[in-house]
Amino acid sequence: MSVAARVQAQAKVNLFLNVFAARDDDGYHSLWTAFQRIDLADDVVIRLGGSARSLDAVGPAMPREGLGPVERNLAYRAAVAFLDEAGSMLPSGFSIELIKNIPVGGGLGGGSADAGAVLRALNAMSPRPLPGRELGAIAASLGSDVPFLTSELVTAQALGRGDRFLPVGWAPVASPMVLVVPDFAVATKDAYGWLDDDRPTDPYGDVTGFGALETFPGWSDLARGANDFEPVVERRHPILREYRERLLAAGARLVRMAGSGSTVFGIFDETATLPTEMGPNARVIHTRTSARVVQVEVLQ
Ligand code: C5P
Repeated sequence: MSVAARVQAQAKVNLFLNVFAARDDDGYHSLWTAFQRIDLADDVVIRLGGSARSLDAVGPAMPREGLGPVERNLAYRAAVAFLDEAGSMLPSGFSIELIKNIPVGGGLGGGSADAGAVLRALNAMSPRPLPGRELGAIAASLGSDVPFLTSELVTAQALGRGDRFLPVGWAPVASPMVLVVPDFAVATKDAYGWLDDDRPTDPYGDVTGFGALETFPGWSDLARGANDFEPVVERRHPILREYRERLLAAGARLVRMAGSGSTVFGIFDETATLPTEMGPNARVIHTRTSARVVQVEVLQ
């Protein structure tokens, strides 16, 4: 059995994101979205052995106040959930080292990407890997973005709570991408609450359907869709609309808020001149839509 593995935990954006009314049974909302992996990634190393469990995080995207209690960290919880399932096949102890490059609370799925990376790494180290369906069930128990970020999909439409996939028919398209990361975060739970507050009589929003997406429609065509969170989050944080308009003016083909915010992204043509600054209150990161899911590197 291997005892250590390294994974690039790639972030995601949503190319479009429709949110429907809160469900009666569990209060969660059903979604229709298209996930897209991007090259910006956390670096995750997990070692197995002994019985102690730990998680350490450093890196440029670490919030000043830290990541909170380790027991609530999604990467930590992913390891606990996997090892519970694995029983005596694997040691019960682990150490996880994270280098955080993905902004926290930015709608880029950073914590979920770390959890997905841990699940993929443990499965690669296990003498008896879990079938995709079982790994997906553990992922779904951790959060809505985790199943996609545990999968081997670069782009996919997702339904339900984000855990039912309809893979797209095209080969991955790697294009330049600009992320505008404001100096404030948006909590996902708050953003869902704002949606419910703002659309009490029309809880289904407007849906622009894209069918099966068999061939790449072009980033510009995907701009016909929407992110339902955009108007409600921009109403509370008007600066985000300004960032969106500046990315469009700079020639971006598709501009959206990432997930429930606060990051705004633009996807550009290969030859475009990418904006490098957006004023004093936001960081600008250049990355790309991903050509592939980076494979787990088993170390020993
Ligand atoms: O799944 P995740 O942990 O990211 O969700 C955070 C919160 O957002 C949930 O506790 C829930 O209040 C809300 N949520 C929702 N419907 C979803 C996903 C999340 O209402 N599909």
